[in-house]
Amino acid sequence: MKKSLAQFRGRPIIGLVAALSTSLVAMTPAVVLAQVADDAQPSQPVTPRRANGLAQTPPMGWNSWNRFACNVDETTVRRTADALVASGLKDAGYQYVVIDDCWHGVRDAHGDIQADPVRFPSGLKALGDYIHSKGLKFGIYSDAGRQTCGSRPGSQGYEFQDAKQYAAWGVDYLKYDWCNTGTRNAEEAYTLMGDALRASGRDIVFSLCEWGNSKPWTWAAAVGNLWRTTGDIYDKWEGKKAYSVGVMNIVDLNEPLHPFAGPGHWNDPDMLEVGNGGMADTEYRAHFSLWAMMAAPLIAGNDVANMDAATRDILLNREVIAIDQDALGVQGRRVRKTGDLEVWAKPLAGGGRAVLLLNRGPGPAEITADWADLDYPRHLKAKIRDLWAHRDLPSRAGAYTATVPSHGVAMITVQP
Ligand code: GLA
Repeated sequence: MKKSLAQFRGRPIIGLVAALSTSLVAMTPAVVLAQVADDAQPSQPVTPRRANGLAQTPPMGWNSWNRFACNVDETTVRRTADALVASGLKDAGYQYVVIDDCWHGVRDAHGDIQADPVRFPSGLKALGDYIHSKGLKFGIYSDAGRQTCGSRPGSQGYEFQDAKQYAAWGVDYLKYDWCNTGTRNAEEAYTLMGDALRASGRDIVFSLCEWGNSKPWTWAAAVGNLWRTTGDIYDKWEGKKAYSVGVMNIVDLNEPLHPFAGPGHWNDPDMLEVGNGGMADTEYRAHFSLWAMMAAPLIAGNDVANMDAATRDILLNREVIAIDQDALGVQGRRVRKTGDLEVWAKPLAGGGRAVLLLNRGPGPAEITADWADLDYPRHLKAKIRDLWAHRDLPSRAGAYTATVPSHGVAMITVQP
């Protein structure tokens, strides 16, 4: 039976998801989306109305904000582009180099936005050319209000003019924020900028940064390629600070939204904090693994030119990256929770599963993934590979058990 949108909105999303199906893990994205559409009646067709064909797998790259905030300049961006290449991150898939807030100067007499002449004396066209010369792609930031969150000029009223300017600079990715928007309607504001980007004639990935306030997962697949689902990430395992929330808090907000993600349109639980110093390496491994399980954008947010070996090994774990980038494009989900111990599963192209064992507790613990929770028959004998130890384990049937450190994960693939 069809349910009204009002009923859907009034219902906790976790309840909705649980009601949809007990076996979403086995479904293709199309089936999942069709079932959500039937049950929840989102306000727009779930099939992207204005799909630009970009971001068929979650975008990967680097963004200046988490590490540099407003202290960003062209030297930092060039140095980071160099380091992405030298460290191997580019070859592992990190391609977008995104300058977040505070690159802006003023608008000129024609209303054209200019870069800050002190921080970016060579201008953004030259910086974009440099990034492209490294085989990388160029991303930039603006805001749907009169001003950005950092009080620089926003794009309200200048959407088409700004999109044209970005295209002339060679921009390939726009993150579009939601500060100082007054009474604007989010769906309308983002649709307008999405239309402006398409009209620019350049392929530009559109990243909506509206923090989940107006449930963008119900409408943004028709507008852009990814949408923030939460407030800003806080470089801590859990907790809150002003508008920022810790990794576990973000995970719990983003997990129930798994039916809304798919190729070209992704839930965005915010950029990575790996290497920024607020968490232990074990916790950063868990953060990175969970983002991969959730098919989240993998946008590094650290100082790539000065990262330590542990940070590099986490960001460069190609086996975990491959789970994030799997062609099926299904966002994994939690399939079992027993107190602090969780089992997550993500179906992969070809019929396998990525499986994550997460220990939120204060000490090491044994966690078991049962084949029944993966929608496999218990007698099925499957190949197991440990994605952090980088080694094959003996094939087994029925279940897999590992001892997982506090605030840590074990991550494997299970291949029938
Ligand atoms: C908001 C966004 C952040 C960042 C800052 C920049 O807080 O959510 O990701 O872009 O603005 O001011």
